[in-house]
Amino acid sequence: MVALTDRVQKRLTMQTAEIAPDTTTIRSLDWDRDRFDIEFGLQNGTTYNSFLIQGEQIALVDTSHEKFRQLYLDTLRGLIEPQQINYLIISHTEPDHSGLVKDILELAPEVTVVGAKVAIQFLEDLVHKPFKRQIVKNGDKLDLGKGHVLEFVNAPNLHWPDTIFSYDSGTQVMFTCDAFGMHYCSASTYDQDLGAIEADYRFYYECLMAPNARSVLSALKRMDKLPEVKMIATGHGPLLRYNVEELVGRYRSWSQAQTKAEKLVIVFYISDYGYSDRLSQAIARGITKTGVGVEMIDLKSVDPQEVQESVSRASGIVIGMPPAYNNSATAAVSTVLAAAKSKQAIGLFESYGEDDEPIDPVMSQFKTVGLKEAFAAIRIKETPSESTYQLCEEAGTDMGQWLSLERTIKNMKSLDSELDKALGRISGGLYIITAKKGEIKSAMLASWVSQASFKPLGFTIAVAKDRAIESLMQVGDKFVLNILEEGNYQALMKHFLKRFKPGADRFAGVKTQSANNGSPILTDALAYLECKVSKRMECSDHWIVYSTVESGRVSKTDSLTAVHHRKVGNHY
Ligand code: FEO
Repeated sequence: MVALTDRVQKRLTMQTAEIAPDTTTIRSLDWDRDRFDIEFGLQNGTTYNSFLIQGEQIALVDTSHEKFRQLYLDTLRGLIEPQQINYLIISHTEPDHSGLVKDILELAPEVTVVGAKVAIQFLEDLVHKPFKRQIVKNGDKLDLGKGHVLEFVNAPNLHWPDTIFSYDSGTQVMFTCDAFGMHYCSASTYDQDLGAIEADYRFYYECLMAPNARSVLSALKRMDKLPEVKMIATGHGPLLRYNVEELVGRYRSWSQAQTKAEKLVIVFYISDYGYSDRLSQAIARGITKTGVGVEMIDLKSVDPQEVQESVSRASGIVIGMPPAYNNSATAAVSTVLAAAKSKQAIGLFESYGEDDEPIDPVMSQFKTVGLKEAFAAIRIKETPSESTYQLCEEAGTDMGQWLSLERTIKNMKSLDSELDKALGRISGGLYIITAKKGEIKSAMLASWVSQASFKPLGFTIAVAKDRAIESLMQVGDKFVLNILEEGNYQALMKHFLKRFKPGADRFAGVKTQSANNGSPILTDALAYLECKVSKRMECSDHWIVYSTVESGRVSKTDSLTAVHHRKVGNHY
């Protein structure tokens, strides 16, 4: 059976495969999962991967999303009688992996649930019934027989504080849940086509793992102590079998780069309350786009010392309002306040749970201590939409840009004025990139645009990493390149050079029409091209976005393109 949405029939299918001796993956394939459903930018669906290890004792590693209830349980029953399962290993308690734990406990009431202490506490609240449990710590082992000895690796914050990895020394398969995953749905069980998956792998890292880069490095250190890992059995997307070293290496180098950032923002959120988790991710992504580091801390499980230590290292603090009834979380906010110092930046957002601690008194206390409000408090009045997440991301970027201001000004100062002047003689045209994805739109003035190929017709644009539109220019995204006209570009240029507030409509007061690909065409542009992002190359502080052209038109054939002449080349 499939689930129905308003207009589209969603495709949900199952796949099972033997991935190692006595080890079967049960993959729930969610082909059409909507963008913004979890990690923004998601376009290629996702999968929820569960695993069955049949030693003398039988272990099930994670379950699935509740939308797969019938399909998953039927598939599981096709492999084994659920009562035969001895252990249910919980890598992480987010509902996309633990959505069917209650069902498994009903089918197999004698099963022992294995997980980190925080995970078991969370499940107690979820299940409301006694169940057998085994709390595991880093290095603990569970012998399933037939050579399958599971060793547990603590991996807090990847993606909640409850996360553990499980390494089967018998098969050298490591079960990592969110870590090393990606939102990518295909019939391929494995990662043989690196080219097809690497953009999603990177984007997923940026959304979920970059704000936890320190935790990624700690987990990698623990992994390094294990014997060889031949396969990474992730909770989302294809399992890593062909590119384990390469893809683990990318996590290492991206995380090392993140932790070297000069400035740091601590984002306090509260897992499993309202939309705190997703909203905080969007803010964190906005911050990391500016090159400022982020650490995410769950107010639900943090201790006061950790709060003090992290706040003392931070240049900025973001807090998702916890529920007023949660005494330990509200006490943690008081600890943040007590540890905060003047000149730090502060940003607050509502979690949209049922009983958020009010923002205003908390903000005024931070201001009294001398903190500067980096973005207007984000107040959520209805279920967050794509626009809400866009607003959060842009608020995060504003905060990051403000914290990087000194560095930006320093970079603008000339080191070699002759060189800067010479570089400034590289000229470009003047263009406005416009994009629409789902319900959100964005635009950017661009000058670093250059044709790059004939077959297919293609060109490149250099997009600074902290541009809002960057999130709408992922591989596969569509946009319009509006080409401005010599002598008739000033009004558009002035409009799009403005500093827009987070979430502001960049097209207010501008004449537009809709392109076939949905993006706005600026009516006053000289020409436009409808384009599709094909590849992205990382170049220090910019992305070089190579795009192919699908169609285009010129409004005045005898007019010329506006040209941007600069004095120096070390800043825009
Ligand atoms: Fe895939 Fe954090 O759950």
